[in-house]
Amino acid sequence: MEVVPAHLEYWMRAYYFDTEIDLSSSGVQNFSFGELRKLFNITPDDLDRIVLHDSRTLGDPELRRAIASRWANGNAERVMATNGSSEANYLVMNSLLEPGDEVVVLDPSYQQLYSIGRTIGCKVKHWRLRFENSFRPDLGEARRVIGPQTRMIVVNFPHNPTGASLLPAEFDELLELAAGAGAYLVWDAAFAEVCYDSPVLTDPGERYDRAITLGTLSKAYGLPGLRVGWCLAAPDVLERLVRLRDYTTLHLSPLVEYVATRAIENADLLLKPRLAQARHNLQLLLSWVDRHSEFVSMVRPQGGVCVFVRLHNVDDVEDFCRRLAHDYSVLLIPGTSFGYANHVRLGFGCSTTELTEALSRLSEHFHTYRKSNKSAVAV
Ligand SMILES: Cc1ncc(COP(=O)(O)O)c(C=O)c1O
Repeated sequence: MEVVPAHLEYWMRAYYFDTEIDLSSSGVQNFSFGELRKLFNITPDDLDRIVLHDSRTLGDPELRRAIASRWANGNAERVMATNGSSEANYLVMNSLLEPGDEVVVLDPSYQQLYSIGRTIGCKVKHWRLRFENSFRPDLGEARRVIGPQTRMIVVNFPHNPTGASLLPAEFDELLELAAGAGAYLVWDAAFAEVCYDSPVLTDPGERYDRAITLGTLSKAYGLPGLRVGWCLAAPDVLERLVRLRDYTTLHLSPLVEYVATRAIENADLLLKPRLAQARHNLQLLLSWVDRHSEFVSMVRPQGGVCVFVRLHNVDDVEDFCRRLAHDYSVLLIPGTSFGYANHVRLGFGCSTTELTEALSRLSEHFHTYRKSNKSAVAV
């Protein structure tokens, strides 16, 4: 088995810990444990009572109930708690796919969503989101790529990195397409509750028994370091994931499960201020993009806190991002991490102060970069 390197993770390893401002993240501003303790009223006694025993393979029952009551219509039977949604994704694909299976995946996409299938030896087909089409998902194209041979459809809405989403009627149509093909629909809902103009799209599992919904505390709730995600699926699918988990992570830590349960029971306390901040930041970003139209263009996102910004006149986007990191200590993800050379992923979920400072450094970088490129040409 040849594992394809995850480009974005390599980029993060190289720059995340050595830059001052992260303008790349797909998640909202992170919370500290101290903030959580105050918000949820967690006392030292609460923590002292936690016994660090082995936990249950599908997750602690209270955690599963909390996840179910917020995201799975109360149906805890359909819940498996995972170490981030990346584990859920890994277990799902490795449990349900075989070499030669046809998998339809959005393009661009978070790399994991197509690379795992490729590593398994699946035939990966793309459903393209096009800048020229304002990244609107084209259901006509979906109809052309999804067919009776399709074993799995993998989508993520609101979408990383474009912020695109589906209208409810399009969501229904996608479910019909999946059902027509008899395909699993992996519905990566990492950014589900961060929506601006369109309604939140809920777990399709109630309507389609081969739907598998992935969720996480990493993005909308500001807790990526807690490493808690989940998979909502039919119990027979979860049973297949358990078989694989028995050889990998076994379960979550009871300490993590306790904090995650409290976070989910109080999810609005995390979500509301970050969503308000994201809306405000988005306005700042849109007006910055207006003022920098000679350098960039961007499609207004429907949800999530990142955008896929198109760069004008930048030949080598990795060099551009590398110099931004070295000279201005600002982190952006080059579009090459998603297979697109002339784009960057820009995250606006950080604090407003950080966003303002990072955009001002980015302006400077654009001007200096243009000058240095011109003088290089002159030489
Ligand atoms: C679309 C999408 N799905 C899943 C993940 C995995 O996140 P985590 O494992 O932190 O839940 C990410 C992380 O960036 C993502 O962007």
